[in-house]
Amino acid sequence: MPGKLEGRVAIVTAGGAGIGAATARRFAKEGAAVVIADLSGTRAQAVTDEVKAAGGRAVCIKMDASDPEAIQATIKLALDTYGRLDVMFNNAGMAEVALIHDTTLESWNRVMAVTLTSTFLGIKYAVPIMRKQGGGAIINTASISGTRGDYGMASYNAAKAGVINLTRAAALENAKHKIRINCVCPGGINTRVAQVLGGDRAEEFRRTMGAIHPVGRMGEPEEIANTVTFLASDEASFITGAKIVVDGGVTAHTGMPPFIPSAKN
Ligand SMILES: NC(=O)c1ccc[n+]([C@@H]2O[C@H](COP(=O)([O-])OP(=O)(O)OC[C@H]3O[C@@H](n4cnc5c(N)ncnc54)[C@H](O)[C@@H]3O)[C@@H](O)[C@H]2O)c1
Repeated sequence: MPGKLEGRVAIVTAGGAGIGAATARRFAKEGAAVVIADLSGTRAQAVTDEVKAAGGRAVCIKMDASDPEAIQATIKLALDTYGRLDVMFNNAGMAEVALIHDTTLESWNRVMAVTLTSTFLGIKYAVPIMRKQGGGAIINTASISGTRGDYGMASYNAAKAGVINLTRAAALENAKHKIRINCVCPGGINTRVAQVLGGDRAEEFRRTMGAIHPVGRMGEPEEIANTVTFLASDEASFITGAKIVVDGGVTAHTGMPPFIPSAKN
């Protein structure tokens, strides 16, 4: 049976680890040729080698997704190598933890650049190619942190909220051109984030994060890759401008404690 993305060409930013790596692997398994773009050339190369060893098609590029020239070079690599661009997965993003009054302007600007400006650039430079080709799919990684506030992560909250509304505006502008633009809002996903935010208490971080999810655990990167692959495929042909929440039920909860003890499972 042909894969869901047979013959397509896809770019995955931040494709060297976590959600991006899982999605690059899945895209390739579904028949797409993948450009794996990451700040870490080593990580991007490792995922590329893995995809090729499994019989898939992939190339990689070391790049910073917040740099307009780097995004253009990544798109050029896709066109030069595979001749087209069908799927753009704008997945780069970063958080820096600080209270607002302690957040430096440099830190604010960095989080905005890597999280929101990178998504803008990915859309800006992919759209003209896709319009010329007659269509395409763009998926942006937002977060449940773009739909609610967190303690000490205001710049990330603001940037991810921006990704959600940028997705809507871009979808409107491009709907008639057969370019569907959607975003995915993951809950807590078991990636390097546990090490980065948890440090030497990564295991405790995973347990605490898992416990706030009604399903009782963090998500796995492959569970986000499933949704991104669906959004990239023709199965999502009537979906554009949407924010798809994949969060194990976190945002289903008002935050109120259970009044009936037996309601707490
Ligand atoms: N893990 C979570 O709980 C979670 C939840 C919601 C949203 N997200 C979002 O998912 C995306 C991926 O997160 P992850 O947890 O898979 O991360 P990760 O740390 O596992 O991997 C991130 C990758 O991005 C690369 N990268 C960092 N800055 C970059 C840049 N400027 N340009 C290109 N590549 C860059 C890193 O080298 C790394 O390989 C991010 O946008 C993040 O905000 C993550």
